[in-house]
Amino acid sequence: MAEALRVGIAGLGTVGASVVRVLTEKNAELTRQCGRQIVVAAVSARSRAKDRGVSFGAAQWFDDPVEMAKNAPIDVFVELVGGDEGTAQASVKAALESGRHVVTANKALLAKHGVALAEIAEKRGVLLNYEAAVAGGIPIIKTMREAMAGNSVNRVFGILNGTCNYILTRMEAEGLTFEACLADAQRLGYAEADPTFDIEGNDTAHKLAILTSLAFGCKISADDIYLEGISNITQADIRAAAELGYRIKLLGVSLRTESGIEQRVHPTMVPTASVIAQVHGVTNAVSVETDILGELLMSGPGAGGNATASAVVGDIADIAKSRPGFQHGPVFGRPAKELRPYKRAKMRSHAGGYFIRLTVHDRAGVFASVAKRMADNDISLESIVQRADGGNDETQKTIILVTHETTESAVRKAVEGITKNGILIDKPQVIRIERAG
Ligand SMILES: NC(=O)c1ccc[n+]([C@@H]2O[C@H](COP(=O)([O-])OP(=O)(O)OC[C@H]3O[C@@H](n4cnc5c(N)ncnc54)[C@H](OP(=O)(O)O)[C@@H]3O)[C@@H](O)[C@H]2O)c1
Repeated sequence: MAEALRVGIAGLGTVGASVVRVLTEKNAELTRQCGRQIVVAAVSARSRAKDRGVSFGAAQWFDDPVEMAKNAPIDVFVELVGGDEGTAQASVKAALESGRHVVTANKALLAKHGVALAEIAEKRGVLLNYEAAVAGGIPIIKTMREAMAGNSVNRVFGILNGTCNYILTRMEAEGLTFEACLADAQRLGYAEADPTFDIEGNDTAHKLAILTSLAFGCKISADDIYLEGISNITQADIRAAAELGYRIKLLGVSLRTESGIEQRVHPTMVPTASVIAQVHGVTNAVSVETDILGELLMSGPGAGGNATASAVVGDIADIAKSRPGFQHGPVFGRPAKELRPYKRAKMRSHAGGYFIRLTVHDRAGVFASVAKRMADNDISLESIVQRADGGNDETQKTIILVTHETTESAVRKAVEGITKNGILIDKPQVIRIERAG
């Protein structure tokens, strides 16, 4: 049998401890599958004394992951520390430069430094595997990079943040407020103490940026993503969406257009009957549309120790199965040096349907003035409904518009015009509608 593959694990928190447990419990099965044993030869975390509920056997302890990456007797460095700079970046870079394979679950790091790290990996002829960084346990990276070779992607989109999907699912199912659902998500450990990164869409954006590079062969460009979170979604939106045959999801969408690539993260209305609308709770889903395959949708657990460890262990096993001299495929599907510069399509040119909810003064002519602003901007309406749902306030009405396909630019101009008319009581709500099968 081939020599054992020696693994060093930096970060022994939720994911790291689960990876150690899976590698221990499934050692015999992994040895059969890989044709060699996988041994945890080194570990590192901040606190050596902390009980992590797993045994590290004879693994050598390192206080510093960078030191471990450079000098430990390991073939693979597994980075499960987190963060887009500092220890995570320094240790991954050091491991690659010293000719060690790297496995990471760190989307923030890849969104910022992925291309530079891929260049080092490809130059040194080692693997940089990151299946767990996008949609946790769903094997979307391997699927796009390997199983879909030769396909040209038109659009990739998905539910990439379990916390947001959990909040939106409970708001709809139980009629609760955003704040109440967020508090529950924090109590259950789905959301961080500071949930900003999840609910404002940044975490989704990091994952989308990686998928965009794989889909379109361009450099990773997370800073170019149009971003809107879910904190301003109300029960009024959820109820109106349901009545109109839609469900609200936080989607990351990346689309090839004539003027460039459109990358956006925002609350989105998807048809209630669509497959992605059936993805509830903390579950993630990714849909890829290509010329040869058509539409593929994968859904499954997007976070948590076990699901993430499944992807990390799969990445380690791939390295165990590879043989010396075997030329590994490029990290982002094309050689890092050949990734094209990212060409951004302007958000103002985004074309699609829109849901617009307006809270207005109940005065004569208000309805007509809203309809006129739409017509002035060439926006054709699928429906326009006026309702007296201001509770006890009879001076207040709600107008809900659903547009046919139009542009972001036209909608912004129309809404600006309506705001200038002085008829609004509350901030207008605008939610984009996404085509989904
Ligand atoms: N949790 C998930 O469901 C999930 C899903 C997908 C991807 N990920 C990604 O996986 C990575 C790890 O996430 P996690 O949830 O496991 O995080 P975590 O529970 O906070 O664990 C982080 C680990 O890193 C160690 N650490 C932090 N700074 C260090 C330093 N300077 N030197 C040495 N060790 C250090 C910590 O040590 P101590 O324990 O001693 O403090 C801890 O063991 C992140 O990149 C995250 O984005 C997580």
